[in-house]
Amino acid sequence: MAENKLNIQTQIIKTGEGRDFSDVRIPGVPIYQTSNFLYDDIDGGTEILLSRQPGHIYSRYTNPTVDALNEIISGLEGAEAALSFGSGMAAISSAVLAVCEPGDHIVSSAYIYGGAFTFFQKQLSRLKIAVTFVDPRDHEAVKAAVRPETRLFYTEPLSNPTLITSDIRFWAKLAHDHGCPLFLDGTFTPPPVCRPLQLDADLSIHSATKYLGGHSDLLGGVVAGSTAMIDKIRPVMKTYGPVIAPFVAWLLIRGIRTLGVRLERQNESALQLARFLERHPNVNRVFYAGLESDPHHQLAAKQFDGFSGMLSFEVKGGWEAAKKVMENLQLALFTVSLGDVSTLICHPASTSHVYLTPEERAAIDVTDGLLRLSVGLEHVDDLQTDLQQALNKI
Ligand SMILES: Cc1ncc(COP(=O)(O)O)c(C=O)c1O
Repeated sequence: MAENKLNIQTQIIKTGEGRDFSDVRIPGVPIYQTSNFLYDDIDGGTEILLSRQPGHIYSRYTNPTVDALNEIISGLEGAEAALSFGSGMAAISSAVLAVCEPGDHIVSSAYIYGGAFTFFQKQLSRLKIAVTFVDPRDHEAVKAAVRPETRLFYTEPLSNPTLITSDIRFWAKLAHDHGCPLFLDGTFTPPPVCRPLQLDADLSIHSATKYLGGHSDLLGGVVAGSTAMIDKIRPVMKTYGPVIAPFVAWLLIRGIRTLGVRLERQNESALQLARFLERHPNVNRVFYAGLESDPHHQLAAKQFDGFSGMLSFEVKGGWEAAKKVMENLQLALFTVSLGDVSTLICHPASTSHVYLTPEERAAIDVTDGLLRLSVGLEHVDDLQTDLQQALNKI
């Protein structure tokens, strides 16, 4: 129908529809902010849907902006393939559901993110998938936890909040000896600090909400591994639908461009602050694998490039003293998240670990005086001065 024969209402809708921008090139990645893609004929659409022809049909399946992010993640991890999700928990739950079914068993570190712990304990039990939690450093206990029905091993290279280091090569070998994959949540140690696939892990998972995004302005999750592994996870993503939005994928791509320089600075600053805290009279203990005195130092030095921007420290005087330090800090922001360009501080006993009994918390060193710092990009001398004045007020 000729355009000038159409009513104004129809013209408004039809103008600009399906415009072809394929001759436009920009330095970055465009946002394909769409749920649908046009296809030329019914047969062509079916071919794309069945993955027999390249192309996009619906953004829950694929989207060019998200594809660009997946390619960037593959490169970052040295992986064959990657997938992105709407949050870190969406990535973890989708990956686990892709390889486990009712009757299966998982060997997991007990020192993992609380949300993953709850997913394992409360949600997987509903699906009759059992989990044994172990101290990741106790290799005999990890071996003893394996059952004939074990299908997956799961740990974090650096745990929250006491920064316990798992020996990735040990975990990978044990998993492979039992014909199982090893999944690692490397949220605290993004590349280039740690590239788990180079240490024989089978899947590298991140809450992209943290360091990859880097600005506390998005929720996202990613997984990277072999094409075969990603092909197992993709159908879970497609059918459960925990996908990342194109705009969020674009924000993430933007954040990742500065990941290398951010981490370099954050690692350096965290080491300086850890050294300062170690010497402060009002600090009982510092948890940071970059310190030569840390029990994890040798192993961390072997498997990490830098020791991360996360550190924890226990102040003398318990909860009251910890509260006083937080209240007197002028630069660090109170949040439960991490990996931002701003320095963030959190009190694990009253936030991430509040649901545990005091005895349970003590068993994993989450004492009332423990504070966790996510070191940002402020000048480290300012951060140190601020910590000093706050600690001196205890
Ligand atoms: C280590 C770790 N893994 C996974 C998650 C979950 O990520 P998200 O909040 O993006 O779902 C978090 C969140 O704090 C985390 O700290």
